[in-house]
Amino acid sequence: MPIHSSDFGKEFTWGVASSAYQTEGAYLEDGKGLSVWDVFTRQAGKIKGGDNGNQGVHFYHRYIQDIILMQFLNVKNFRFSLSWPRLLPEGIGKPNEKGIDFYNAVIDFCLECGIEPWVTLYHWDLPQALEEKGGWTNRDVVHWFEDYVAFCIQQFGDRVRHWMVLNEPMAFTGAGYFLGLHAPGKKGLGNFLPAVHHASLSLAAGARTIKTLNHNLIVGSTFSCSPVDPVDRAVLSQEAAQRVDVLSNRLFIEPLLGLGYPWQDVKVLQGLERYMKAGDENLLKANLDFIGLQNYTREVVRHSTIMPYINARLVKAGKRNVPKTEMDWEIYPQGIYRVLKRFASYKGVDKIIITENGAAFNDVPVNGSVDDPQRIRFYEEYLAQVLKAKREGVNVQGYFAWSFTDNFEWAEGYSKRFGLVYVDYPTQRRIIKASGFWFQQFLQSRAQYL
Ligand code: NOJ
Repeated sequence: MPIHSSDFGKEFTWGVASSAYQTEGAYLEDGKGLSVWDVFTRQAGKIKGGDNGNQGVHFYHRYIQDIILMQFLNVKNFRFSLSWPRLLPEGIGKPNEKGIDFYNAVIDFCLECGIEPWVTLYHWDLPQALEEKGGWTNRDVVHWFEDYVAFCIQQFGDRVRHWMVLNEPMAFTGAGYFLGLHAPGKKGLGNFLPAVHHASLSLAAGARTIKTLNHNLIVGSTFSCSPVDPVDRAVLSQEAAQRVDVLSNRLFIEPLLGLGYPWQDVKVLQGLERYMKAGDENLLKANLDFIGLQNYTREVVRHSTIMPYINARLVKAGKRNVPKTEMDWEIYPQGIYRVLKRFASYKGVDKIIITENGAAFNDVPVNGSVDDPQRIRFYEEYLAQVLKAKREGVNVQGYFAWSFTDNFEWAEGYSKRFGLVYVDYPTQRRIIKASGFWFQQFLQSRAQYL
């Protein structure tokens, strides 16, 4: 039975999501400072195809057309992020007026088009100037971040009601400070553990800052999450899955909810203690108005001593003969149901928004149109699972598709396309994919409420 947006009820929030570095481009324009991604992408061999976000999808210059396109697709909520170095080129200190003007213009134009802006404060583009002082490994980042958050709320808090503090802290600390696959390319526990602790402190501090400045604002933060299953029933595989689960799903949410770090289950996390000061347990707690969950797939793992500390290895979808996306991520719609049920069962998680869900496929324009039935199917199947969780009582109140347009997919460069709207990179022309038209129709069923 086809699914309709009206099945989710009148109050449900529907939107599309993007981020600054992945879309804006204009990396050196109008006084913007460098971010860690501007610098990281210059290093040979880090990004597929040698790509970078210097141009992005020109959102900095094309935001008017893009927001009009969103409006055409019946989108009523737009999640995007602010670039910290565009607003504060040195990370702290003197603001960049042109950066403030840009986000004012984006916000005002969204509102004019009947689109509510949902703003992420940090989507991985740390000012390089702060990275040079140690970035997330330096405990001072908590104060730098608090000041940046306060600045953003003062500038934009009169028009933006919904705020997200950090985007996927596990991704930027894990890939950026442990594996070295993302900016700033640091590796090892000596970087990872302090980055985790300071990101956790910053998350809570950021949320408190927002509420202190304006308690009417609605504050959340977003978390990557995937069910983690053992590759077989062997005890070693099950234990490996439990360890990966700590990192994939528990590490950042549990301290926030007052449960402390889950270090009894992954011994190496006990090293976090070295970076903790008296009173930190309390400082790690925050009351968020909503939890943003971002789910794409599930992880299947096996025991392995190749990966140090965690002794577990992912078994990629390609090796398991299961349906998958271009990212080699298993298409596993029940996963979104499982993470919804699981996160909803935490005491202290009251309201959940799916702040990202979507898929990359190999889209090819033919005669000016892009037919992507796999993506339509992906959305229908995942949404059916969201609805199932909702009907079983999970308080999920919104869903944002990732992403509005194709964009820079981090280490994968432009090779992976997640958009509802295709971008022809040489010309920057937009082509609404069949999935974009599908989403337009899907959202149309809300019309009965208008
Ligand atoms: C999570 C991230 O927030 C986003 O930046 C990324 O493009 C998508 N997932 C897809 O990998």
